[in-house]
Amino acid sequence: MKGIEFDFSNLFEPNVKNGIKEEEINEKKDQVKQIINEVLEEKPGFLEVPYTRKWVDRVLDLKSWVQSFDAVVILGIGGSALGNLALQSSLNPLNYNTLGEDKRKTPKIYVIDNVDPDYIASILDSIDVSKTLFNVISKSGTTAEAMTNYMIVRGIIESYGLKGKEHLLFTTDPEKGVLREIANEEGIKTLEIPPTVGGRFTVLTPVGLLSAVAGGIDIIDLVNGAKDMCEKVKNDDVWENPAALNALIHYIYYNKGYNISVMVPYSNRLFLLADWYRQLWAESLGKRTDIDGKEVFVGQTPVKALGATDQHSQFQLYNEGPFDKVVTFLKLENFDREITIPHIHDDIPALKYLGGKKVSDLLNTELAGTEYALVEHNRPNMKVIFPEINPYNIGQFFFAYEFQTAVMGKLLDINAYNQPGVELGKNVTYALMGREGHEEIAKEVKDKLKG
Ligand code: PA5
Repeated sequence: MKGIEFDFSNLFEPNVKNGIKEEEINEKKDQVKQIINEVLEEKPGFLEVPYTRKWVDRVLDLKSWVQSFDAVVILGIGGSALGNLALQSSLNPLNYNTLGEDKRKTPKIYVIDNVDPDYIASILDSIDVSKTLFNVISKSGTTAEAMTNYMIVRGIIESYGLKGKEHLLFTTDPEKGVLREIANEEGIKTLEIPPTVGGRFTVLTPVGLLSAVAGGIDIIDLVNGAKDMCEKVKNDDVWENPAALNALIHYIYYNKGYNISVMVPYSNRLFLLADWYRQLWAESLGKRTDIDGKEVFVGQTPVKALGATDQHSQFQLYNEGPFDKVVTFLKLENFDREITIPHIHDDIPALKYLGGKKVSDLLNTELAGTEYALVEHNRPNMKVIFPEINPYNIGQFFFAYEFQTAVMGKLLDINAYNQPGVELGKNVTYALMGREGHEEIAKEVKDKLKG
């Protein structure tokens, strides 16, 4: 299969004035070679994922059970939710859940990744609990949001007189945690989240694979796409390794004050890939660290925008605002559906030119126009090109960005796999909600809030 391609040309001189020069990449070539080899030797959990067949097999074993439900609802947050959302929105039609049963042969898929009662209720209102499977995804098994939603649905399941184990599936650590304990006690089916794979790197583990199978997505192609990308990014020549080159380019721009990375899919179906990317880039790389005994704060802020919609919202800033953004377009060459604009108003020159044109041509022409404008304004931008949307290409995208994040983490000299900055907020929530063992922090916070 052809796979996705990267077009870096508008990040470099002479395409973009003050862009990166090839020498700047060559100066860092040896360092990046070493980094690539370090990543390969250290084998961070995500690197093994495309080669671990047992998860694919376990999920496929559950396929007929999972697909026998009318709806599958994912209860999870962050890395336990965003991959599912990206998979469903890219690989299934945008109106998948509202398609009639003649067009949709597999269950409706919902993801509840917040504790907003209006939102939770709106999804619960849309399903028939007696025909629904709830997949509770939490690696730690303690995350307040995921556990709250689990307890809510468990309460409903029981109020209907249904058996928990017939409507629940837990995706969690293979040994530890509350979910594992409950599952063991009650015989609830489980899937494993590999302990060595950080939450935001788990999309290609059972975390994402189960909902993918439920929604009729070919997970073998998905994983094969990731595997082929993994083989590609094992190349330690930065010029031949798109993920490492992309990391290095972002690093060089970051050091020149380009603190923002904007991902702009020109496709509604690809839009939630940008959400997944935002978490990966932000949570992995935004870190407080130490350089020569001095505290420093690093990270490039990921932002998402949608083409062409946000041309009318964001792009004034991107063209004329501060020189602090690197833009990545996601371009789709072949759309699944096509619409031709009818020849209405051929008598009005301001509208006539649109008549007879394909909507996808208009969208990609808008992308070309936006790229041109950015270049004219000396703004660095690049493209990830999808020949079409299919599981193979989406798998390639996920893996390329995971590897890119690992390389960027090493360039920034931080640990890309932890998230100490979110722990405080979590602990304060536990404390203020009265969780046992958090009394001291509750007192401290209450005193500070009073003061
Ligand atoms: O990337 C991460 O590690 C986080 O975003 C987690 O996925 C998120 O906090 C949810 O954690 P858990 O799966 O333990 O409920």
